[in-house]
Amino acid sequence: MAVNRQWILKKRPVGDVAPGDLELVETPVPVPGDGEMLVRNIYLSLDPTNRIWMSDMDQYMPPVEIGDVMRGGTIGVVEASNNPAFKPGDIVQPAMAGWQEYVVTSAAGKVAASKDTPMLAYMSGLGGTGATAYFGLLDIGKPKPGETVVVSAAAGAVGSIVGQIAKLKGCRVVGLAGSDDKCKWVVNDLGFDACINYKKENVLEALRRECPKGIDVYFENVGGEILDAVLTLVNLEARIPLCGLISMYNADGPVPGPYMFRNILMKRVLVKGFIVIDYLPRWGEFMRDMSEWIAAGKVKWRVDVAQGLENAPEVMQKLFTGGNTGKLVVQIGPEP
Ligand SMILES: NC(=O)c1ccc[n+]([C@@H]2O[C@H](COP(=O)([O-])OP(=O)(O)OC[C@H]3O[C@@H](n4cnc5c(N)ncnc54)[C@H](OP(=O)(O)O)[C@@H]3O)[C@@H](O)[C@H]2O)c1
Repeated sequence: MAVNRQWILKKRPVGDVAPGDLELVETPVPVPGDGEMLVRNIYLSLDPTNRIWMSDMDQYMPPVEIGDVMRGGTIGVVEASNNPAFKPGDIVQPAMAGWQEYVVTSAAGKVAASKDTPMLAYMSGLGGTGATAYFGLLDIGKPKPGETVVVSAAAGAVGSIVGQIAKLKGCRVVGLAGSDDKCKWVVNDLGFDACINYKKENVLEALRRECPKGIDVYFENVGGEILDAVLTLVNLEARIPLCGLISMYNADGPVPGPYMFRNILMKRVLVKGFIVIDYLPRWGEFMRDMSEWIAAGKVKWRVDVAQGLENAPEVMQKLFTGGNTGKLVVQIGPEP
């Protein structure tokens, strides 16, 4: 019997994801029915939001139910098809195929992978990561030439792309990241103007030094103390695309609100949360611009690829310890 390995959510984590919260099980490889296809997953996207989906807090999608396959985005290859729109060998992105080796689905996005645009590009710069950076920064942040843009988790999947787009728009770009190596990468390779290692420096003092004209746009990925430091230095009519709050995802109970909340009033700051799927109707705009920027070498994407579906829960922890640089992905099986 051909086997499908799957990660099942066994119980809701308390704090960090712990052994026993998920269980690796083996089931028969599913058989596609009429209009369906069998997809072998090759790469699995690991995202901070996986931790949110494991919880039963009020969120933007239903939580993963106990006993269900863990939700996750993948890219894979069609192995068998009863759907005339797809044939074996097609590279596809099924909607949330999950943490498993095989999935049966009737719909998926086809991907034109090539030597210049490999499958992994669609998991990073040309995927949800790139779109999150693009729409959050441009649609909400609306950066203007000469403005100062600050981005947290700057060496991560989304943050590294945000900073590069802001540079293209003529801004001064200051990142925050958790190691000197990460800071060197975003400044030397990606063209950020400065990067603050928030684990080593006093963030408020460092932001004052690196943002002498104040902060016009803050692309928020983390929350907590960094948000307070930024709020202290925002300019009149600053914009804060609220993309994520990773410092709070493992919190077991209420977390303190920002102490500098009052500056949102004093400085007439726009703070707007967004979820990238809100922008699905506008995906074409993103693909048009980002494909061009990547092809021209103006935006670089980087992936951090770990091996083996069996390691997914442990690898996911890197998002919370800062162990990843660029987009974190698990390779489940070989590329065709
Ligand atoms: N709204 C949306 O549609 C959407 C879509 C995708 C992602 N997001 C959000 O965007 C953020 C980044 O996601 P990503 O996929 O690009 O992940 P990522 O940045 O590649 O990885 C997460 C990074 O966050 C940093 N981090 C972790 N805990 C932190 C803390 N307590 N304080 C400061 N930094 C911390 C770590 O880097 P350091 O070494 O620098 O600490 C880690 O590498 C997350 O908040 C995520 O939920 C939102």
